[in-house]
Amino acid sequence: MKILALNGSPRMKASSTYHMLTPILEGMEAAGAETELIHVRKLDLEACIGCYTCWVRTPGECIHKDKDSMVNAMESYNTADMVIFGTPLYHFSMSGIMKTFIDRTLPRIEPWLIPHPDIPDTTFHPERFHKPNKMMLVSPCGFPEFWHFDSLVATFKQMARMERFEYVGESCALEPKPSAAALCKVFLLAITTASVRLASKLSATTKSLKRPKLLFARIYSPAENKLSTIWLAHTGRSKWIDSRCRMRCATPSRF
Ligand SMILES: Cc1cc2nc3c(=O)[nH]c(=O)nc-3n(C[C@H](O)[C@H](O)[C@H](O)COP(=O)(O)O)c2cc1C
Repeated sequence: MKILALNGSPRMKASSTYHMLTPILEGMEAAGAETELIHVRKLDLEACIGCYTCWVRTPGECIHKDKDSMVNAMESYNTADMVIFGTPLYHFSMSGIMKTFIDRTLPRIEPWLIPHPDIPDTTFHPERFHKPNKMMLVSPCGFPEFWHFDSLVATFKQMARMERFEYVGESCALEPKPSAAALCKVFLLAITTASVRLASKLSATTKSLKRPKLLFARIYSPAENKLSTIWLAHTGRSKWIDSRCRMRCATPSRF
């Protein structure tokens, strides 16, 4: 299974997004997946100008194709089985460069509308190229409450539903800060463990995959003197506790 991770943080390797993506990819590699990580900022993307050249004059080709590295990135995207959208939470949504990336995938689809294959009474743009059939969301934010992620998660779930991705889950967390290094380590290890399970499950089953349970964790950080909350996509154990870090996981009632 080939997994493409997109790091939509402009802070690239210095970002919390990258620090969350790394253990996920390590976990998935340990389970036998082939992985690739692209820093979206490095693609130096031009914004979509809505000219529809990619639909009309040069079907499947963007007017910006020679100006940036989107064509190469799309080769990776179109051949992956799963895409991980990694983005910091910016104003309740994704980062600008991640949105630009997603907008620039427009050449992938045909202009006309057909009935949606899965959703009754709904229209759909047919696809020109193969695309990943699964997606996952990874996002850090600055506030400790879960609900800050609500609109971001809703956006990606909506995209998955309409564009026919299987939404595998999300790992959303308060930014792993260096001041809470021990806690981060435990959290990142938990993500790795969850990712090994997730990737094994994904490789083993495609159609009959059950969505992993979404767990949240509350972490008390002595360094920051506060209780923080994290989410992680989790496929196996329903509970684990690290008393040293006072970490606790439970299935949130709203799921
Ligand atoms: C432009 C901007 C907007 C932000 N908006 C939010 C927000 O709406 N909610 C939030 O909790 N944090 C917000 N943050 C904080 C970032 O989500 C947080 O610092 C995150 O960990 C940054 O991730 P990165 O290091 O991967 O870039 C914002 C930061 C920036 C720079």
